[in-house]
Amino acid sequence: MADEQSPPPAPGNPDPAEVAAAAAHLRAGRLVGMPTETVYGLAANALDPAAVLAVFTAKGRPRFDPLIVHVADAEQAWTVAVPSPRALRLAAAFWPGPLTLILPRRACVPDLVTSGLDTVAVRVPDHPLALALIRAAGVPLAAPSANRFGRISPTTAAHVREQLGDAVAAILDGGPCRIGVESTVLRCDPIPIVLRPGGCTRERIAAVLQEPVALADREARAGSLALSGEAAREAPGLLASHYAPRAPLRLKSAADPWPTDPAIACLAFTGVGTGAGLAGRARTEVLSPTGDLAEAATGLFAALRRLDALQPPEIIAETVPEGDLGEAINDRLRRAAGLG
Ligand code: TXA
Ligand code: MG
Repeated sequence: MADEQSPPPAPGNPDPAEVAAAAAHLRAGRLVGMPTETVYGLAANALDPAAVLAVFTAKGRPRFDPLIVHVADAEQAWTVAVPSPRALRLAAAFWPGPLTLILPRRACVPDLVTSGLDTVAVRVPDHPLALALIRAAGVPLAAPSANRFGRISPTTAAHVREQLGDAVAAILDGGPCRIGVESTVLRCDPIPIVLRPGGCTRERIAAVLQEPVALADREARAGSLALSGEAAREAPGLLASHYAPRAPLRLKSAADPWPTDPAIACLAFTGVGTGAGLAGRARTEVLSPTGDLAEAATGLFAALRRLDALQPPEIIAETVPEGDLGEAINDRLRRAAGLG
């Protein structure tokens, strides 16, 4: 029985009544804005094709771009996907967490979820509200990032309300997302390949598997793997012009000077070592003064949104060092710039 004297739950902690109401919406085929540790998701009952169709419609997302199925634990994951030895090891090491595994699907998964592929994407989000919601709904939840297709992913409940407020029956507010970039999408077999770099670094995956882990689009760009067409079909999140602000965005390396035109917006990594270009300048966001890639990832999308809201003629974004989370951050920046 609910204790009327109990204080309201701290942000991010499940309020049982709110979670139960959201779960009821999901079971009735409606959509719910769901916080995760990466970005907010637009959740629907993954086993209900009409609800899944509503997700595609609300996002304006093409039906050839398959969705990630969110589950509460590995046991539930194996009700929608067939695990392999690699998958079992990765699930044990990284779930709950920002790693999505691409595995053979089971028959219960609607075609719409996988865009007709014979594989399904599955992950266990590391957020108390998401886990409580999945458990209360009693079904796996298909949830793409809760943004309009091709736009910047949401990292707060307010971002979800702005872009998709009319499409959802409820939004659970779990506060700002801890990681800030989406999950890493990994095809496990026959060899492990990252289809989308994200919150779980290739270094960590390789350390658990004790084998090299390839990066699909880099390999394809280098021409060393005939993956470009296949990868584009399998993970359209790899397509250029994703995560795009409205203003045109151009990349610069740390060594290039900042623009002199004060109207241009600047997205800096550390903000140091950039000369007089940034000092005292308006329209500037610094992602991490100490050069911490995790901090930079957490704030990346919100900073891009703030700069975009100024309606600058252009945004200049500084790329970050490539290793570790730099791979995911630079990937998002390149796509925001419309580069592959
Ligand atoms: O962090 C995340 O992953 C967030 C939160 C909400 O969990 N979700 C997310 O979903 O980013 P979405 O729909 O924006 O991106 C899913 C990515 C897409 O690039 C899609 O192409 C890929 O996963 N994907 C889904 N199913 C796939 C499959 N069967 N094979 C290959 N790629 C797949
Ligand atoms: Mg997305």
